[in-house]
Amino acid sequence: MANAFLFFLLLIFSSNIIFENIHACNQSERSSLLSFALTLSSPQLNWTSANCCNWEGITCNQGGQITHLQLPSKGLKLKEGIFLSSSHGNLTHLTHLNLSHNSLYGTLDLTELFLSLNDLEILDLSYNLFFGVLPSSLPSNHIRIVDLSSNHLHGAIPSSFFQEAWNLISFNVSNNTFSGPIPSSICHPSSSPLQHLDFSFNNFSGSVSSGLGKCSKLQVFRAGHNYLSGLLPEDIFKSTTLEVILLPLNSLYGAVSERISNLTNLTTLDLSYNQLSGVLPFHLGKLSKLKHILLDFNNLEGSLPLSLMNCTNLVELRMGANNLGGDISMLNFSKLSQLSKLDLRKNNFFGILPRNLYSCKFLKAIRVADNNLEFQIEAEIISLKSLSFLSLGWNKRFTNVTGAMKILMGCKRLVVLSLSSSFLGEEMPNGVEMADFNGFQNLRLLDLSLCNLSGIIPSWLSNLKKLQILSLSYNRITGSIPSWLGTLPKLQTLMMEFNQLSGGFPKEMCTLPMLASEQAAAQVGGIYLELPIYYNSPRADAALLQYNYIYNPSIYLSHNCLSGNIPIEIGQLQLLRLLDLSANNFSGNIPDQISNLKHIEILDLSMNHLFGKIPASSTGLNFLSSFNVSYNNLGGPIPLSTQLQSFNASAFEGNLKLCGAPLPNKCQTTEGSDAPDMSTEDVDTKEHQTPWFYISVALGFITGFWGVCGPLVLMRNWRYVYYHFLDNVQDRFHVMIAKRTVSMKRRFG
Ligand SMILES: *[C@@H]1O[C@H](CO)[C@@H](O)[C@H](O)[C@H]1NC(C)=O
Ligand SMILES: *[C@@H]1O[C@H](CO)[C@@H](O)[C@H](O)[C@H]1NC(C)=O
Ligand SMILES: *[C@@H]1O[C@H](CO)[C@@H](O)[C@H](O)[C@H]1NC(C)=O
Ligand SMILES: *[C@@H]1O[C@H](CO)[C@@H](O)[C@H](O)[C@H]1NC(C)=O
Ligand SMILES: *[C@@H]1O[C@H](CO)[C@@H](O)[C@H](O)[C@H]1NC(C)=O
Ligand SMILES: *[C@@H]1O[C@H](CO)[C@@H](O)[C@H](O)[C@H]1NC(C)=O
Ligand SMILES: *[C@@H]1O[C@H](CO)[C@@H](O)[C@H](O)[C@H]1NC(C)=O
Ligand SMILES: *[C@@H]1O[C@H](CO)[C@@H](O)[C@H](O)[C@H]1NC(C)=O
Ligand SMILES: *[C@@H]1O[C@H](CO)[C@@H](O)[C@H](O)[C@H]1NC(C)=O
Ligand SMILES: *[C@@H]1O[C@H](CO)[C@@H](O)[C@H](O)[C@H]1NC(C)=O
Ligand SMILES: *[C@@H]1O[C@H](CO)[C@@H](O)[C@H](O)[C@H]1NC(C)=O
Ligand SMILES: *[C@@H]1O[C@H](CO)[C@@H](O)[C@H](O)[C@H]1NC(C)=O
Repeated sequence: MANAFLFFLLLIFSSNIIFENIHACNQSERSSLLSFALTLSSPQLNWTSANCCNWEGITCNQGGQITHLQLPSKGLKLKEGIFLSSSHGNLTHLTHLNLSHNSLYGTLDLTELFLSLNDLEILDLSYNLFFGVLPSSLPSNHIRIVDLSSNHLHGAIPSSFFQEAWNLISFNVSNNTFSGPIPSSICHPSSSPLQHLDFSFNNFSGSVSSGLGKCSKLQVFRAGHNYLSGLLPEDIFKSTTLEVILLPLNSLYGAVSERISNLTNLTTLDLSYNQLSGVLPFHLGKLSKLKHILLDFNNLEGSLPLSLMNCTNLVELRMGANNLGGDISMLNFSKLSQLSKLDLRKNNFFGILPRNLYSCKFLKAIRVADNNLEFQIEAEIISLKSLSFLSLGWNKRFTNVTGAMKILMGCKRLVVLSLSSSFLGEEMPNGVEMADFNGFQNLRLLDLSLCNLSGIIPSWLSNLKKLQILSLSYNRITGSIPSWLGTLPKLQTLMMEFNQLSGGFPKEMCTLPMLASEQAAAQVGGIYLELPIYYNSPRADAALLQYNYIYNPSIYLSHNCLSGNIPIEIGQLQLLRLLDLSANNFSGNIPDQISNLKHIEILDLSMNHLFGKIPASSTGLNFLSSFNVSYNNLGGPIPLSTQLQSFNASAFEGNLKLCGAPLPNKCQTTEGSDAPDMSTEDVDTKEHQTPWFYISVALGFITGFWGVCGPLVLMRNWRYVYYHFLDNVQDRFHVMIAKRTVSMKRRFG
């Protein structure tokens, strides 16, 4: 019995030893992990069992030493701002540390980290909230992958940083706020395994690193969205293994060297938004693997190299906003059988679009707007079965809008159709030709602005059940706003300004589901665009921002002859961000319900015959960034709020009975709620003396952003309308002046 017991004890003891030997983790490393877990405020890691090798995120080697600590996307948060300060002290065998996509916040002491984690091969701390700077050099031995991207790291990269990291394969510091130059010494001259370098989205300056030629295995070089300047270093063309070069949004200048054709493995070249000039390399077409070439927004000139038409793998050809030119009909697209996106907008191409373009069966997006092309919409365009984005405006005007629309409605996938400034003075397609209408079933954006079209708003539009943005601005459209517009299930942006519309604001418009129902709008969202649209950033550095997505719930009806009251139902359009009813004949009070427009940012009711008071409730419009009720017959005190008083007096001027800040005239205490009297005859007369000239200054960059859609700016008796085309045609303050004299409507009949 005693023996048996002893045996039993022995068994337990030895099995325990065996257990310890096979599975047990090194206890001092275990305690390091526990002290790391103690620095976390959340979540609770289930790190309780004796054997830390079984813990979540932990891998050990056979000796029970921890080699991997991998807890990506676990929602980790730190208690205090110091990460792994000393807790990693015992983890000397760690090779993989991956804590990416967490919320680790605080100062990252990389010097100490590298010192104690001597065997580290892979470090991924991307997508956290770390602060800190880089150490003077990467450790010399094992490190292969460093990903510190998407943090708040700053400072310069020390020039000696890469000098000993001979095993480095991938280095990513994108999306931080690093500054200073990119070091010239990155790769070891004899052999460097480095394949991926990513410096993009930082504040790097100086010229592009000149040491890349030594990187004999480099495949990806990214340094876009920085302040790099100078020429593309010749050295880069020695790196013939390069497959991807992304350097958009810098200040690179000079010509693209002919030597680029040495980079025969190149698949992606993005040098857009720089100041490159000169002609494109003649032999560009030697880059036979090229799939994506993006050179938009430079100062390139000359014609497209014919050799480019030999790049049979080309998927995306984007050369917009340059000074390129030449006869487009000389290009033969028939070998580009993979081509999906063609963007040549805003250049000087002339001639006729070659028919062989229609052999590119995968074409999804064509944008050739703002050139000098001659158009004829050919029936063959229907053979482009994938075509979803077509922007042709701002070329030579073409004729037969009805014929064009009838052909285009056969493009079943079409989502965006922009024909702004394409026609000149025809009748709006309507009537029998369009009677059996069933086309455009996927159309979400239709822009027929600036075509000088006459006629009424055509009823076939009521069949476009997916239409989200409709622009018929700057035409000569007459008649009233049809009530069926209010039933278009997806309509969220209506642009009808500068027409001759009459009648009232239909109540039915106030039930537009995309503007009235939060739920409906959330389901639909905005429009995804195959090619981005641009607008000038309102920020001081005036950078161009690009958007692949438009969501702009707004109604532009200014400069028409609309009359009657603003219906009280307007308050149902709670999602509206912009309402411009200026320069019409609206009368009556500003309805109290206007305060239900909780999201309104721009509200322009100027130049109507509105009377009564500005509703006190309007002080609740918290997002209002632009407001204008000038030149009406409003009276009484301007309601006091932080909002309304922050606008210029000009937003209120021309209302003789209005008083209080920001207007200079103080309110008299006796001033009551009198109905407006008719004593504004003075104003009227003045206006007759100096008829208004309406000048539309087309800033051209697309809407899609209400923040920059300026309201009417009054300047003496000139009215400048900052108008943003849906057509993504123009960007750089390309000014289109459509001068017209609008006979001033007489107030009070
Ligand atoms: C545990 O690891 C530490 C340092 O990592 C080492 O000094 C110690 O010898 C290890 N213990 C065992 C039992 O392996
Ligand atoms: C390292 O291991 C030793 C011995 O197990 C332990 O006393 C010490 O607290 C550990 N260091 C850290 C930072 O956990
Ligand atoms: C914690 O881990 C142990 C084993 O490692 C497991 O049995 C237990 O269910 C886990 N607890 C939770 C709350 O996940
Ligand atoms: C880190 O983990 C994430 C998520 O599993 C993974 O996508 C990423 O590739 C890992 N990082 C490295 C450098 O392996
Ligand atoms: C670098 O990291 C960013 C995310 O922060 C990622 O988008 C990018 O693809 C990475 N670069 C490379 C070359 O892998
Ligand atoms: C940059 O980092 C922020 C925060 O982690 C992230 O939201 C954003 O998507 C990143 N941007 C890019 C271009 O990777
Ligand atoms: C980045 O550079 C811009 C322009 O030089 C500067 O305005 C900005 O403050 C810089 N940001 C940081 C974090 O250094
Ligand atoms: C191009 O890529 C291929 C396949 O990836 C590779 O074998 C070849 O060495 C590369 N060419 C150059 C010049 O690097
Ligand atoms: C690169 O191209 C130039 C001319 O374009 C040529 O003279 C040179 O020999 C090429 N270099 C290599 C390494 O192929
Ligand atoms: C295009 O390729 C063909 C066949 O490889 C060649 O004969 C022709 O010269 C090339 N064209 C240009 C303009 O490089
Ligand atoms: C375009 O090239 C194709 C073959 O690549 C050829 O058959 C066709 O005739 C060419 N068209 C023109 C207009 O040169
Ligand atoms: C307009 O185009 C259509 C279709 O291409 C055609 O049938 C019609 O005759 C054209 N009308 C005029 C006036 O050219």
